[in-house]
Amino acid sequence: MPKLIVVTREGKEREIDGEVGLSVMEVIRDAGIDEILALCGGCCSCATCHVHVDPEFAAKLPKMSEDENDLLESSSERDENSRLSCQVAMTDELDGMRVTIAVED
Ligand code: FES
Repeated sequence: MPKLIVVTREGKEREIDGEVGLSVMEVIRDAGIDEILALCGGCCSCATCHVHVDPEFAAKLPKMSEDENDLLESSSERDENSRLSCQVAMTDELDGMRVTIAVED
């Protein structure tokens, strides 16, 4: 199973199993890391699942939708590595990807 490395807001790193087919948000939430609120449950309408993704993996991520882009635009914490974790599905290709949970807006 691919691994996901999660860096919490306190800077603590955890390596967790990323079940293929689940979203990165679900993987983080299911591991008991409660910094991801995911208020909308993953339907791309809340932006509380914002993460910064390791740039090395940028090319392997699914393309960003217009909705995701618009939502991220409302965050003052957005940078070029920002994604909504509910919009990124785990795949074998993402094994070893590091995501940092974004500071809350
Ligand atoms: S969980 Fe709401 S946008 Fe990702």
